[in-house]
Amino acid sequence: MTQLSAAPTPQRTPGDGSRALYGGKINRRITVRDITAAKERGEKWPMLTAYDAMTASVFDEAGIPVMLVGDSAGNCHLGYESTVPVTLDEMTMLSAAVVRGTSRALIVGDLPFGTYQEGPVQALRSATRLVKEAGVGAVKLEGGERSHRQIELLVESGIPVMAHIGLTPQSVNAMGYRVQGRGEEAAQQLLRDAKAVQDAGAFAVVLELVPAELAAEVTRTLHIPTVGIGAGPETDAQVLVWTDMLGLTGGRVPKFVKQYADLRQVIGDAAKAYAEDVVGGTFPQDEHSVH
Ligand code: KIV
Repeated sequence: MTQLSAAPTPQRTPGDGSRALYGGKINRRITVRDITAAKERGEKWPMLTAYDAMTASVFDEAGIPVMLVGDSAGNCHLGYESTVPVTLDEMTMLSAAVVRGTSRALIVGDLPFGTYQEGPVQALRSATRLVKEAGVGAVKLEGGERSHRQIELLVESGIPVMAHIGLTPQSVNAMGYRVQGRGEEAAQQLLRDAKAVQDAGAFAVVLELVPAELAAEVTRTLHIPTVGIGAGPETDAQVLVWTDMLGLTGGRVPKFVKQYADLRQVIGDAAKAYAEDVVGGTFPQDEHSVH
């Protein structure tokens, strides 16, 4: 299918796994160099979104090595209908909170729609805010070939970039929420996009909603890690939106989400129990009172 030559198969290094991103002994802030080394070892790793300090601190304590302050905050945290309205001020504020709530995870801040599409200089100005004001260790932006100049300038300027190809939600008005990379031509374009972001210097690339076989081929072809969401089991890493993964999102969630908890039910039940206690006069009791 591809015209690109495959990267050599990573060798798993025997050892005690102490450098493992998840479950290893790294007890400092994880960097993009650790991510690169994980690909060399053939190690898989988990990434979750985070939008606030408290949730992020729970994920940090659970050992999640990379957190994305995604512009999915638009739908999942800020009450917008899509990611499109999210502003750089909002992303800066949320990213700073996540950085404050964590001490180990690499925090990646998303550049929202309209803050990098004009060109490399606009991208650098926006990314600089996330790095300087929020303290993120890397930024993410959408687009393959079309974003390679932006990625090049950011990387040259010392800002690590995670790219994002396949379904790119900021383009929902143009592409909808549809599987990408289906058919020979679309698959070739995805491979060109993947190669373009790697050549531009991205340290990792998100593959969203692409056929598992194509994601596997991209993963074998690139020497930077692929981070899949709806891209099958063969990518180097996986990312999920935390409100989907923990069952807080209302309504339908995408087929690729595995739900590990039902927080909507748990929180709703707790809120009702509290309300009934207040209405029925059983809260507060003496133990909750001061005298
Ligand atoms: O904004 C986001 O949460 C994302 C992930 C879905 C990769 O871009």
